[in-house]
Order: sequence, then structure tokens, then C-alpha cells
Amino acid sequence: MDSILIRGGKPLSGTIAISGAKNAVLTLMPCALLTDRPLTLENLPRLADVDGFMHLLNQHGASTTLEGAGNGGFGRSMSIRAGRIASTTAPYDFVRKMRASILVLGPLLARAGEATVSMPGGCAIGNRPIDLHLKAMEALGAEIELAQGYVTARAPDGGLVGGDISFAQVSVGATENAVMAAVLARGETRIENAAREPEIADLCNCLVAMGAEIEGIGTDNLTICGQDRLGGATYRVMPDRIEAGSYACAAAITGGELQLEGARASDMPSILAGLREVGLAIEETDGGIHVASDGPLRPVTLSTAPFPGFPTDMQAQFMAMLTRAEGTSLLTETIFENRYMHVPELARMGADIEVRGRTAVVKGVDHLVGAQVMATDLRASMSLVLAGLAADGETQVLRVYHLDRGYERLEEKLGAAGADIERVSEG
Ligand code: UD1
Repeated sequence: MDSILIRGGKPLSGTIAISGAKNAVLTLMPCALLTDRPLTLENLPRLADVDGFMHLLNQHGASTTLEGAGNGGFGRSMSIRAGRIASTTAPYDFVRKMRASILVLGPLLARAGEATVSMPGGCAIGNRPIDLHLKAMEALGAEIELAQGYVTARAPDGGLVGGDISFAQVSVGATENAVMAAVLARGETRIENAAREPEIADLCNCLVAMGAEIEGIGTDNLTICGQDRLGGATYRVMPDRIEAGSYACAAAITGGELQLEGARASDMPSILAGLREVGLAIEETDGGIHVASDGPLRPVTLSTAPFPGFPTDMQAQFMAMLTRAEGTSLLTETIFENRYMHVPELARMGADIEVRGRTAVVKGVDHLVGAQVMATDLRASMSLVLAGLAADGETQVLRVYHLDRGYERLEEKLGAAGADIERVSEG
């Protein structure tokens, strides 16, 4: 199994190109199931989860063509065509490896009148229910049945009908499923308390390019006028704000500076505000965002929250960065109950962190020391890479497959910016 070997202590400097957003592409790909015409996604990141989702779509009967793979693999595009739906079932084997598989529920139900999706079950960052997804499908007329670990949703004869959906809690995934189902439902659907993450605006803009009618894009109130059919489109995936934020933390923790090429500041208000508070100098440039360290890191107090709040997907990376701040930071995780698995691993590298309920108390230390570490999820793994970049000596991050799910060519990008980092293959 591969691992990442880092010899820490090198300030980063240079340009890192930001890839297409993982959290956007995994909701854009299932849109292809809504039409028999081709959907071409540009700026496709090279990630294990994109490959996994491609195989899931193939299994539903879609054909997929990758272009630009020869050009070093950057800036690829994928054409997906679901001429007909061969299977309306998303099997356990896909869903257990990739939670985003639940996002075929809305499109399959809307297009084929039925969808059977394995229940995702728990995962490393906590118990992640899908009740909000199912309630939204019911509001559009679907009947739901649970059996043998699978959920089956069936549309009434004549297909889904528009309805009012009011989410009791902000959910990114449930909003995405609701929007994808409503674009083919008869009549109007209103979604209240919709998630406002930029990836949802990206989803809506792609659907509009395919012929959908959606009002309120970017707000928590969406009105969708269902269409009889959607067409194909060519759509460019938005830049990955979490990848950009992660590399900004890398610049901060190493006392360096980076141009984050392609990053979009408007997608990252709370991340950039947090970084400024920590003491990073941040400047919007023509091509992206420039970040530069500007003296010692300062401690901060932050809570995760739905957009435009501080993203749960940045909590672990901020924690790694704050282990080197001058003072005590407080980080509170409000979205997931079990998203602190990186804490004991960071502690093994010399970090001083105490978890009190949902809050982590991070006391800055003078030094981190390299160690062999591993994490059980994607962002936690990235926090260990960040700690390794600043630590004395050698850090080996095991279970690299987590990083490969969400960071395109991490070691190449960091290596080109001056990090001493390599991927080691074993066995
Ligand atoms: C969540 C994050 C998203 C992040 C992703 C991967 C939020 C609001 N969402 O999206 O930013 O990119 O994880 O880390 O920050 N919930 C229910 N019932 C449901 C669905 C969700 O109770 O049917 C709860 C979840 O347990 C959680 C909260 O709602 O506490 C938000 O979850 P949700 O946004 O749906 O999760 P993801 O779509 O995975």
C-alpha cells in the first residue's frame, strides 16, 4: 500500500493549480442520468472518487468517455451519456466505498420512476443518516420502502409531482437530491432551508445549462419549475475551495507563500476570514488568490457551520495549522459528531490538543516532530500532511487512498512548491 513520506521544515513557495471541486463533480456527474443526451464535464479532477462514480454510472447503463487524459491528466473532461437506464439499483459495494453514491437517488427516481439505493450506514466521521433525502422524495410524491439494507423510492404513475420541501436541518446532500429530482417533476417545487454551498449553485447552473428552470440559485430558497425533459450540456466544474484552503494552510504552517491559481475568493469567505485572523496576508489576483505568511500564527476561535459558515471540511486542516500558533485556539465541530480522529495522530507528532465534547482546545507548540501516522478519512489525512510539512524530521502518512479520494496529485503539487515529499509504494 502507498504512503506519503515528508521531510518537514521547508517553507513552500510558488504556484499551485487548483483542480475542479470534488464536492461539485460528485453531484454534477449524476445529472447525466437525467437526460438521454450527453453531459460533458470540463475541468474534471483526477480523483479516486471520480473513477468510482464513473463505474457506478456505467453500472446504471451510462457510457463514459474521458478526454485529455494524455495531457498529463490535468484539466480532463468527461462525456457521460445515459441513452437508457439499464439498472435503477446502486449496489452496496459502491455505496459503502463512496457515500456520494446516494446522489443517484433523485436523478434515477425522476428519470426512471424508481431507484433502489443501498443504505450508506455509518462512516468514519459519524452516523450519517439519509432521512432528509427520503422526506424530500416523499414530498415529490415518491413512496419509500426499506428492505434488506436497501431503500427503494417509487414515483407515482405519471412521474414525480412538484411539491413543497422544507428542510428541518441544512443538508448538502439532501438539497442536491431534491433539486435533481424536482427538475423533472411535474409542476413547481419550492425548497426552503436549502443548503447554500457554492457546489449547490454549481449543480443548479449545470442543470440550467441542461434546460432546467431554477430560481433563487445561491440562496436558501429555491423554486424549480419541472420540465418534461432535459438536454445535454457542456459544463466546467468549479474550482475546489477546500483544496485551495488546504494549500493556504500549508503556506501558513510552513511560513511560506503560494499563488493558488484558479481559486475563487467568493466561494471561500469564511475560510479566508479565518486565515486572515490566523495572520496570513491574502490578496485576490487576476488568476486566483495569493497567500503569504506574515509573522507568527495567531490563535483563533471557530465553529463549523453550513455555508457561508466555516466548513467542516476545513476543520482538520485548520487544527493542524493551529498546533503551531502562538496561543490557544478553540475549534468546535457542529456538523459531525465524530470528526476528531486526527487529534490522537497529531498528538503523536507533539501537538497539544484536548477534546472537550464538541470542542477541541488546541494549544500552540514550538515544534512538531515527524512520526508514522494514519487517518481514517480524507480531510484528517490532509491535516497529517500539513503537520508533516512543518514537523522536524520525517513523517510517513499511511493509508494514502484517503488522500487520493480528494486531492489530485497532492505530492506533485506540494513538491513543485518546494516541499520534500514523495509517494512510496510498498508491495
Ligand atoms: C457534509 C457537509 C459538507 C461536506 C460533506 C463532506 C454541511 C452542511 N455539510 O455534506 O459541507 O462537504 O459533509 O464532509 O456542512 N443529516 C441528517 N439527515 C439526512 C442528511 C443529513 O440528519 O438525511 C445531518 C448529518 O448527520 C449532518 C448534517 O445533517 O449532521 C449535514 O449533513 P449533510 O450536509 O447532508 O452531509 P453531506 O451532504 O455529506
